[in-house]
Amino acid sequence: MKNIILASITMAVFAITSQTAMANNDINVKKIFSKKCKKCHSLTKKKFGPAFKGMNTDPEVLVSAITDGRKSMPKFNKKLSSDEIAAMVSFIQSQQIANPCAK
Ligand code: HEC
Repeated sequence: MKNIILASITMAVFAITSQTAMANNDINVKKIFSKKCKKCHSLTKKKFGPAFKGMNTDPEVLVSAITDGRKSMPKFNKKLSSDEIAAMVSFIQSQQIANPCAK
């Protein structure tokens, strides 16, 4: 009986820690983009907001635009975690070097 209880506790702890690990490492940037950014932003073309390609690459500018918003850009401080915002920032930065031949 004691062993069974111990085993279930171990399983529960394992389940919790692996979930936390997923939350930290498995941020789905593409999903955030389609759910929360795509209606105003395209990766390559200007829509309501500027294309991700061609955006500022300064992380401070990007973080502040996403976190606190700017003009018609809504703020995401309550909608995205700081890890998710950081992931979006590196995603935007990665778009600047994604295809050096395309203008
Ligand atoms: C309601 C429309 C809308 C949505 C949704 C939106 N944006 Fe924007 N975004 C804008 C507009 C408009 C601007 C230009 C603001 C300006 O004039 O400075 C902008 C600007 C930005 C900038 C600043 C770019 C630069 O070069 O300084 C970043 C970064 C950005 N958006 C990221 C995002 C991300 C990431 C998401 C999704 C999580 C998102 N936006 C969702 C409308 C939107």
